[in-house]
Amino acid sequence: MNVYDSDRMGDALAQAGYAPTAEAAEADLIVLNTCHIREKAAEKVYSELGRLRKLKDSRAETGKQTLIGVAGCVAQAEGEEIIKRAGVVDLVVGPQSYQALPDLVSRASGGERVVLTEFPDEDKFDHIPQTPKKVLATRGPTAFLTVQEGCDKFCTFCVVPYTRGAEVSRDAAKILDEARAMVDAGVREITLLGQNVNAYHGAGPDGSVWSLAKLLYALAEIDGLWRLRYTTSHPRDMSDDLIAAHRDLPALMPYLHLPVQAGSDRILKAMNRRHTADAYRQLIDRIRSAQPDLALSGDFIVGFPGETDQDFEDTMQLVRDVEYAQAYSFKYSPRPGTPGAELGDTVPDAVKSERLTALQALLTEQQQAFQASRVGRRFDVLFEKVGRKPGQLVGRSPWLQPVNVMAPESLLRTLQPVTITETGTNSLFGTLDDVALDVAS
Ligand code: 5AD
Ligand code: SF4
Repeated sequence: MNVYDSDRMGDALAQAGYAPTAEAAEADLIVLNTCHIREKAAEKVYSELGRLRKLKDSRAETGKQTLIGVAGCVAQAEGEEIIKRAGVVDLVVGPQSYQALPDLVSRASGGERVVLTEFPDEDKFDHIPQTPKKVLATRGPTAFLTVQEGCDKFCTFCVVPYTRGAEVSRDAAKILDEARAMVDAGVREITLLGQNVNAYHGAGPDGSVWSLAKLLYALAEIDGLWRLRYTTSHPRDMSDDLIAAHRDLPALMPYLHLPVQAGSDRILKAMNRRHTADAYRQLIDRIRSAQPDLALSGDFIVGFPGETDQDFEDTMQLVRDVEYAQAYSFKYSPRPGTPGAELGDTVPDAVKSERLTALQALLTEQQQAFQASRVGRRFDVLFEKVGRKPGQLVGRSPWLQPVNVMAPESLLRTLQPVTITETGTNSLFGTLDDVALDVAS
């Protein structure tokens, strides 16, 4: 989501006449887009600001002004505090207000230190220009598209409902227009984004409320849009129509990021996830019977307050039962203002580390098994960019793995059947059919 937001900030600034530079040392304006989800991510901002201080000072010696901005969820959560703590910062802007960026920048260049973290009433997307076709064409055949923002779930560990606010869904017609414009510019794969994307309930062009499934069926009708994905989802919002979409829509990739966080009912309850471990297992069974080829990805937290050895073992068991193709796992980090923070941070860091290591070993084993299971299979790869080796292209498998293939550049942005010959740690290697090579050359 932050990658998408950064691009939109770039778009808003480009429309106001600013141009990007590849070197920070050349920039008159540097905006850090930040994440507040765990303490480590939030603290990184301040170490980065320390580095930027030096850059700003050395540019000042040559008479150049450098404006430093902080955007994203740290900006939203800390606002004024950032200005107080980091003298180097000229402007602070929350994720709801990127349309105001050009105005904030011109105020800051006049010497004002500006902070904007209010939640505006209107849809921020109405005010941000769509990415120009020319720019889109340089960004490769895949794109993100935000359809929903914010979250009403209030998991007790999570800052998102506070930093990103209540759940808001964009109108389906606007999403379809944006998707069509992307496809016109050469985009072939769109990932729909939202903090809780499968809770999408936007106004449909027919006056009814559309679910994510309904939106996906409509997007799948767009000519030239070959692949669809969505992220991130909550298990409670995996509705029957969405599961059916996985069965019905060949364009909907068989890959699902469906975080469970923990495998112990007691901890799930304390996290306010509002489902049990068995309910999640049953849900996975239903999704897999609709789309047997589907691979799962997940998020896990170890060391939530009160987590015992047995609770952790329940998480390990859930992972063994479900089998993930990919996963992200984290040590619990208490976040100020969340209900979880009231519970203290009772699991010692050494225990968290031990559990994280064990969990990650199991998840890595599963990821490697999944990678290995692709060898010998033949499936479509969407070629995105040239590879590191001369003559090589890199594309993505339906399950999001990078696939390296010796192929001519004329096949960039095309979908080609590839037979997998080998696995790397995170990527696959494959070969094109002779026919594809003949046609391309
Ligand atoms: N501590 C550790 N991990 C967290 N996440 C969210 N909040 C916290 C926290 N306080 C993880 C969850 C979520 C992912 C984006 O980040 O696993 O799914
Ligand atoms: Fe945070 Fe996801 Fe829970 Fe929402 S559903 S509160 S974003 S973890």
